[in-house]
Amino acid sequence: MKASEIRTRLRGAAASWELQVVDEVTSTNDELKCRVMSSSPVVLFAENQSQGRGRRDNVWRASPGKNLMFSVGWCPEVVSPLWPRMTSLAALGVCEAIEAEVPVEAKIKWPNDILIDGRKVAGLLAETCCPGPRVQLVLGVGLNVNEIEFPEEIRGIATSLRLAVKGRVDRDLDRVSLAAEILNRLGERLAGLEDGYAEALSEIRQRSWLLRKQVRARVSGQDVYGRVVDLNGEGELVLELADGGRTTLVSVEGIREVVG
Ligand code: BTN
Repeated sequence: MKASEIRTRLRGAAASWELQVVDEVTSTNDELKCRVMSSSPVVLFAENQSQGRGRRDNVWRASPGKNLMFSVGWCPEVVSPLWPRMTSLAALGVCEAIEAEVPVEAKIKWPNDILIDGRKVAGLLAETCCPGPRVQLVLGVGLNVNEIEFPEEIRGIATSLRLAVKGRVDRDLDRVSLAAEILNRLGERLAGLEDGYAEALSEIRQRSWLLRKQVRARVSGQDVYGRVVDLNGEGELVLELADGGRTTLVSVEGIREVVG
């Protein structure tokens, strides 16, 4: 995959982003994190990561040359207190890009997973750092594109776009086209941090995989059980508890559906 091939397909805000594709790094998030940058985003794709990271010290594993692993980093002139909205907006952008390129339906499993048919196809990792006078935001995306084999322990819960369209499309998917479409949609969606969020939120709700499900969430080392009844105006998860009370989850160590 070449940066020049992706660049020719960029439009809107993403067309002015700096773009790099490298063979291998430890982690694209780590590579960009804490670099002093301007407010114009820098995008780093890697064909392979030796120490790819997920949330909460999870490892992100993906075969070299088959998937998309990249980070977008920038130092906004003013960091909006609304930046926690970034993950949900980015998740929406990634879903839209996937659906524009591949005949599947992509759902968002709050807070940072993208699922197809209930299996994880992508994960997002948003981080901040303070490398200089300005705060830096880094958004990492790992998308399983042409992976056809997963390690035993995640085989039942992970998928790739290639596997999701098996029997309908029997060839490798075009990573360049997908990469460009994701950046284009991220450019559009991330611009909506302030004004576009209410409109985005109704689309995020429609794509929510957890909404109306009975779940067990791990919060500060404790299990919380409840039914997901809403995503509030900040995209946080609202649970209805067994006693009829409600609680809002801002972040979790883990969350899963409980059946029965
Ligand atoms: C998760 O599912 O917990 C988030 C996974 C994020 C993986 C991506 S791959 C590109 C970027 N670099 C990393 O080390 N992690 C993110």
